[in-house]
Amino acid sequence: MNRPASPNAIWQATSVTRADRERLNGHPGLILWFTGLSGSGKSTMIHAVEKRLHGAGHHTQSLDGDNVRHGLCGDLGFSNADRVENIRRIGEVAKLMVDAGLIVLCGFISPFRADRARVRALVGAGDFVEILCHCPLEVCEQRDVKGLYRKARAGEIPEFTGISSPYEPPEAAELVLDTGSDSIAACADKVLELLPFWPARPR
Ligand code: ADX
Repeated sequence: MNRPASPNAIWQATSVTRADRERLNGHPGLILWFTGLSGSGKSTMIHAVEKRLHGAGHHTQSLDGDNVRHGLCGDLGFSNADRVENIRRIGEVAKLMVDAGLIVLCGFISPFRADRARVRALVGAGDFVEILCHCPLEVCEQRDVKGLYRKARAGEIPEFTGISSPYEPPEAAELVLDTGSDSIAACADKVLELLPFWPARPR
């Protein structure tokens, strides 16, 4: 737990615990953290996996890079310092959701190893499943779903990940998905197979 700036903020225990909430939900809370380049398929994977989990009666929430930057992190840009703060805030929010007993699906470039390691340490190693959406830069650039790579190459977007800003792939991810070549369904299956409570019991 980080020390607050104010010494007068005193931690309060809750009467309903995470274990109570997990019991009610029928499954543990945890984070599925998808990392990878822009256009590598993080959002696609989140949607596919969340749909399967939700369909099986699990309690989920998804946090997606572009969406979070419309609200919680709307004041942040793409400098290294802002990216660090982006992941710090998201980590804290994801932790609250894990405490609520949710399966939290996070999709952020999260280019720095140290930031991802900090979130892992914040929630506890067992509650953080790191999944690399491995898709070669050439493929992401060729797809260019949002047209951002073209703009970045034209010099219209500074500090663009993979072009003019670094990406540090995980050294020991729990799972590496070949999102450049494998189907969405096959990748979703691989993610679900990681979960100790999957396949879900029929409702
Ligand atoms: S992170 O680096 O701080 O983790 P985040 O996942 O929140 O990034 O946001 C990434 C999304 O923002 C990309 O998918 C892309 O749509 C958009 N974006 C806009 N500018 C940039 C940039 N300079 N670098 C990377 N992505 C950018």
